[in-house]
Order: sequence, then structure tokens, then C-alpha cells
Amino acid sequence: MPGLIERYIDRLPFAEGDPIITLQEGSTPLVHAPRLSERVGAEVWLKIEGSNPTGSFKDRGMTCAVSAAVREGAQAVICASTGNTAAALAAYAARAGIRGVVIVPEGKIAMGKLAQALMHGAQVIAIQGNFDRALQLVRTVAEKHPIALVNSINEFRIEGQKTAAFEIAEELAGELDALCIPVGNAGNITAYWRGFRELGMAPQMFGFQAAGAAPLVLGKPVEQPETIASAIRIGKPARWEQAMDAMTASGGAVNAVTDEQILTAYRFLAREEGVFCEPASAASVAGLMVHGAGNAQRVACVLTGHGLKDPDTALSQVGGVVPCEPELSAIERAILR
Ligand code: F0G
Repeated sequence: MPGLIERYIDRLPFAEGDPIITLQEGSTPLVHAPRLSERVGAEVWLKIEGSNPTGSFKDRGMTCAVSAAVREGAQAVICASTGNTAAALAAYAARAGIRGVVIVPEGKIAMGKLAQALMHGAQVIAIQGNFDRALQLVRTVAEKHPIALVNSINEFRIEGQKTAAFEIAEELAGELDALCIPVGNAGNITAYWRGFRELGMAPQMFGFQAAGAAPLVLGKPVEQPETIASAIRIGKPARWEQAMDAMTASGGAVNAVTDEQILTAYRFLAREEGVFCEPASAASVAGLMVHGAGNAQRVACVLTGHGLKDPDTALSQVGGVVPCEPELSAIERAILR
């Protein structure tokens, strides 16, 4: 498959001949989840966004945002991030041969994401503050300096991310009753809704936030968001109104899931479905398991990022390895125990 700009150029703000910065993102698997389906009494599909080149859905928005920035002559791109946007920015900036700068909350981004951002040569600035503060700072920097802002307040990000809705629609022949999706800064739910609307579809949109970082559920900003799902540790979503519109207009809802419920879904997916996603991604499935999805018959859950992004959380959830002498008898004892 080509990258998503090429695949969907007719429906994106690009024209033949524009510079395109791509890593062949998009075209991710939509996998049926038999055990989860049985558990919740609906036909459930998993949109595996961890299969994108940098391991999260952010690549969809980033190919568009960075291509547009290059088209406009930008020499540098910047974002605030809980980790995945930083990794995607870093990779696409490297690919474009321009400077990448990311501002992250110190000590609060998963190890894999930090490794990616640094490996791709982005400048990683860690602040003693949360994502919301970082976003405030990058907005100001981008106003004062010629650096393109590529957070999801950038329209090209939403345009790119809406293509995931196109893919789901194609695979399910337009038949989808509900979408379950984690909500942090609220760009992705906005993008899916836009994508479905452009196709004339209106599945119910069920957004899920971590209980300690659930401003949309509470109806007010959360000053000190906290959750094990560090990707969605956000207290003031930038696309608040649009996310609420999507859920209201589609007859969906926004609900909270506790860290414990997120981790239960996280382990369930890994063990019962063979699908390893990161904790924030499991919020969509946790939400479906705990709150349901109305009377939907066919549901898609968006698994936004790969499990390998956050090995620390994974290892905190499992038993250790089995130490063993390098001898057949010892191995047999260990296996047949
Ligand atoms: N899932 C993952 C794995 C994420 O990284 C994010 C957002 C979301 C869900 C929520 O998506 O913000 O569009 O509502 N991560 C951003 C980042 C904030 O900086 O990587 P959203």
C-alpha cells in the first residue's frame, strides 16, 4: 500500500506534485476480536494503529502536517506531547530533513517513545509541568518564531487522522454501529467523526477518558491529571467542543474508566486476543467492557498505540521469567512443573 496521502489524495488537502513526506503509514489491520465479542455480546473489531511506522496513529496526522509544513517552506516543526506525537514528529522531521523539537512532561512519557524521539534526532525538552502546560508553551513559541506547530490543533493532523475512518468503512462495507476510542487532547475522535461524516456514516461515538484525567466527563478542566495511561494524561483537551459535538451528534457518550479497568482490558487483549497495545489504547476496550456501546451490534475499538511503547507498564503487570540451569533435566522440570 502507498502512504495515506497517496491513497486518499482526492479527499485530502494535497495535490499531485506536492512534496509528500511519508513512511507508508496507514492501511493498518482491522482485526476481529472473537473473545472480546463474546464477552460484550457484540461483534467487535480492533483497529490496530500500533502497526503504523512509529507504532501509533499519530503517523496519519504527521505525514500530512509535516508534508504541509515542507510545502510552506518550514525549516522546523514543534509539538507538545505525551510521547507518541513526539515520536511521530521526530521520525517525519528526520525523513523531511528538517529540525524537530518536542516538549514533554518530564518523567511522564513512556520509555519507548522517548527512545524514538531521541533516536530520530529531535530535540527533546522536558518540562516540570504537564502536557497542558507544554501545549500552552509551544503555541506561544510557534506564534513568535517561524516554527510550524504540528499538534492536533493543526488542521492537517485531523485531515490525516480521518483516513482511519475511511479504512474501517471500506473493510466493513460501511456497516458500523459504534466506535470506541480513547480521548486525550480530543483530536482523534474529532478526526474519526469528520471521516465518517464525509462518507455519510454516523456510528455512535463512545469516547473514554482515564478517571484521573477526565475533563470531558467532569465538564471542567482537570488541573493535575493523573493516570497510568500516560498518553492520555491531559486535563484541558484542545478540541473539547468538537469532541463533545461528535459524541452528542452521533448519540454516543463520554465516560471514564479507572486505571484498574484499563489494566484489566490491557491484559485481556494481550492474553485473550494476542494483541498488545499500550495502556491508553486499552481505555477504548475497557470502556466497552465496563460501559458498553449502547445497543450496537458491530463495534470498532481503536487501539491507538503499540504495547512496546511502554515496556515498564507491561512488565509491572506480569510474572517474572523462570530462572533455569542450562540442562535438559532442569528445563523439563521447569516446563512440566
Ligand atoms: N492513545 C494514544 C496512544 C495517544 O498517544 C493519544 C494521544 C491518545 C490515545 C489520545 O488521542 O489526544 O487525539 O484524543 N497522545 C498525544 C501525544 C497527546 O502527545 O502523543 P487524542
